[in-house]
Order: sequence, then structure tokens, then C-alpha cells
Amino acid sequence: MKLSKIILGCLLLSIITISCNKSSQTTSTAATVTTSGEYNDLFVPPSITGTNFNLTLAKATKQFKTGAATATYGYNGNSFWGPTLIMNQGDDVKINVTNNLTDQTTVHWHGFHIPAVMDGGPHQIIDAGGTWSPNFKIKNNAGTFWYHPHLHMKTYEQLAKGAGGFIIIKDPAESALALPRTYGTDDIPLVFSSRRFNTDNSIDISGAYGDYLLANGTMNAQVTLPKQYVRLRLLNAEIERGYDIGLSDNRTFSIIGNDGGLLNAPITTNRVKIMPGERVEILVNLGNDALASTIDLKAYNTGQKFGFPGAEPATAGDFGSLLNNKDFNLLHIKVGATTASAITSLPSKLASNVYWTNADVTNSRTINITGGQAGAAFTFDNNTYGFTSINQTIKLDAIEKWTIVNNNIFGHSFHVHDVQFKIIARSSGTVGEHESGWKDTVYVPLGETVTVIAKFDDFSDAVNPYMYHCHFSNHEDGGMMGQFIVK
Ligand code: C2O
Ligand code: CU
Ligand code: CU
Repeated sequence: MKLSKIILGCLLLSIITISCNKSSQTTSTAATVTTSGEYNDLFVPPSITGTNFNLTLAKATKQFKTGAATATYGYNGNSFWGPTLIMNQGDDVKINVTNNLTDQTTVHWHGFHIPAVMDGGPHQIIDAGGTWSPNFKIKNNAGTFWYHPHLHMKTYEQLAKGAGGFIIIKDPAESALALPRTYGTDDIPLVFSSRRFNTDNSIDISGAYGDYLLANGTMNAQVTLPKQYVRLRLLNAEIERGYDIGLSDNRTFSIIGNDGGLLNAPITTNRVKIMPGERVEILVNLGNDALASTIDLKAYNTGQKFGFPGAEPATAGDFGSLLNNKDFNLLHIKVGATTASAITSLPSKLASNVYWTNADVTNSRTINITGGQAGAAFTFDNNTYGFTSINQTIKLDAIEKWTIVNNNIFGHSFHVHDVQFKIIARSSGTVGEHESGWKDTVYVPLGETVTVIAKFDDFSDAVNPYMYHCHFSNHEDGGMMGQFIVK
């Protein structure tokens, strides 16, 4: 008993030492050890604003558990994850991405409408020691995007070890609204994922699900948020797990945006499902909460329908985990003092998006989810990903309707590069209000057919393809990915 008290004291001391050294922006606030019932301060990634960005991916370590530190990856000296890049619509940006790993990597700008050679997919390989410097104009609307490795068959491993980061795009229309936007104060990026650890504390890169929930790479995370409307930019960067997110007192919150930016008007709800690759921006009103009171952001994953990733009942093995089919905490929130520029009400109108309809469509195609039988990998249209195969050819400026058919075994998260699409139909019934905006990733549950419409404009390239794939990185690595060219 005495010994454990001494260890705890040393740990507390080391935590204090680290928070005293926090002034340098690019070093991370790492060493926190989880003991059940205790919380660790949420890591809020440092932000970089401008038009010239430098990212360096390197090996790191992070103390997730008692005992050995865990081998991780991080950008710009962070022990897990990377800085948040803040960009303005209309800007021409240049990013220097340096790869200090001993392995190849790529960096993809998830959700961006940019030329295929700048996209950072499996073809834009950055060799160990090399630097890749894409440049492009920011054409997307204000919203929450992210960057992550996309090296074929290594996406799972590199993402699981911590490689990834947020991108926040700003534009004049969003800036004109009275919304919380003080980064790290009332505007918080939150990336959720889970990890399983091997006995030597290294990250397991074999199964579908992790056993320990990480919020921005922090286990058992807590944060103090001001007594007012706060904006949470939620990203599911899981390998495979979905989350049905709500607050512990079941209060309602407002969804203001999804993958491609703001919705036309806020949606009030007490639950939102978010699948790997998807983003949802929510506003939570803490204005009526007592100072120093607490509330938890949680995943209500108990009793989801079969095919919902993470609903499987097993607690171990390839398709089991300690978090499966359970309700669990994502973030412990303490209510702190109101800030000077507090947002105290919600705008009733947010954007004026005009979406594509069937009447606009110039070409249609169907993509079937196949494979997965008897332990085989999932595929699209019975084709395993081929580095040199072109699976779809699209005419520049086509407005295409894609019908994704899933009559096969399990649910998937379907992502298309280059475009933001409109989900126009789900065979199970209506399209969710939370996914009513522009989207680049859509959940396709088992037994469902989903129809989306997108315009493939601005960028053509007869040689360099864009990707479409399942955003479960284990499925993607296994070949559930196709290539399209726009010409
Ligand atoms: Cu988030 Cu093809 O990726
Ligand atoms: Cu993408
Ligand atoms: Cu999948």
C-alpha cells in the first residue's frame, strides 16, 4: 500500500512538472497514467494558422498505461496526433510534409476538393526521410476536416499509432454567424478512437476494436468548459467502431454541421451517430449548469442493431472488445466560468446550401458491397483494390448519382475523395437530419441501399485517380477501395 502511494505521488509530481513546461506550443502534454476513476486533462492539439504549413511525422512515445511507454506516431513533436491546421476559404496554401519515419507514408486531406495529385492518396508516397509539398486553393466551405496517412495496407497501422490531425476551414459566411469559435476555449476539436494494447504496452494493430477509449489521444479525458454555448467538433477516427453520442443527463444539443460544413439550420436532438471518417459539429448549452458541476459526453452503444460496428457482444478477440455493446464515457466535462465573449443563444439559420436532386443527375452508377465471406476481405463489385486499376471513369462536370448496395454481412462507412455529396435516399426510410448537409462519408448499414449525388467539377486528370473506400481502415487496407478518374 505504501509503495503504491509513493508511486502515485511521483506520478502526480511528473504530471505537474509537465504542465509547468507547457508553454512551448508544439510539444505535447503527454505523460498521464490512467488509474480507474481518475481523469486526465484532455490534450487540445496546438493550432497553426496561415497559408504555409510544415508537418513532420515522426516516431514518439506516450505513457498510456503504467509500465512501458507506448510506441506512437505524431506530427510536429506531438506524442499522438498532430496540430490543428486552420485555413481560410480562397487561400492558396502550401504544406511541406516531411516523413521522419523509417517507413513510407502519405498524407491525405480528408474532405478537400483539390486536384488528384495533391490529394495525398496511396499514390502520393513520401519516402522515409523525404518531403512532399502539395499546394492548392481552399475551395471547401467552413467546416471540420482532417488529415491522415493513406499508404495502401498501412493506413490502419499508421492511424492506429496516432498519425492524424484536424483541419478547420473558415469562410466569411460562417464567420458572420454568432457561433463559438475561440479555439480551445469554447470551440473544441474532439477526435475519438479506441486502442488495444499488447502485453508490452505497444498498440495492437490486428483487431477491429480497441479496449480503451481515447479522446484526442487522452485516456479518461476531462476538460473544463465555460458556462455558455460550447461548440464540439466531433470526429470519429476509429479503425471500425461507430458511436451513438449523447450527454449523460440526456439533455438535447444542436447539430450545426457535418462533413462538408454547416447545415442550413440547427437540428435539435439528444443522440447522434457518427461512423469512422465522419464529422459532426454540435453546440451544447452549459449556460444553465452550476459552476463546477459535471456532465459526461458518452457513447450509448448498448443494443445497437447487428452490423453496427462495435455492437458485437464479445469482449475479446478480433471482433470483440471491452467497449463493445456498452455505454461508455467519451469526455468528462466540468463547468467553468463564463468567458467575456460568451455565445448565449443559437442562430436559427446557418447556411443556404442548395443541394443536388434527381433532376440534376447526368449519369448514374451502382456500387455493390461484396466479399467478406468466410473471413475473406470485403470488396466493391468483387474487385480487390488494385494500385493500377481504374474502377470508375467520370466525365468532368458530371453530376453523378451513386447507389451503394449493401446486402452483405455487416455495415460500412463509405467515403469518396474529391467531392462533397448529398445523401438523397436510404432504402430503410428517411435520411437522418444530422446527415442532411454536404457529406463525404456515409454509413451504409447492413441490408441497406444508400443513394448520393455529387458534381465532379474543377479538376480533371486522365492519369491520377481519386479513391473511394470503406473508412474502416482494416477494410480499406484489406482491399475495400476503388479508384476513379475524372476526365
Ligand atoms: Cu479519410 Cu480516403 O480517407
Ligand atoms: Cu478522404
Ligand atoms: Cu467496411
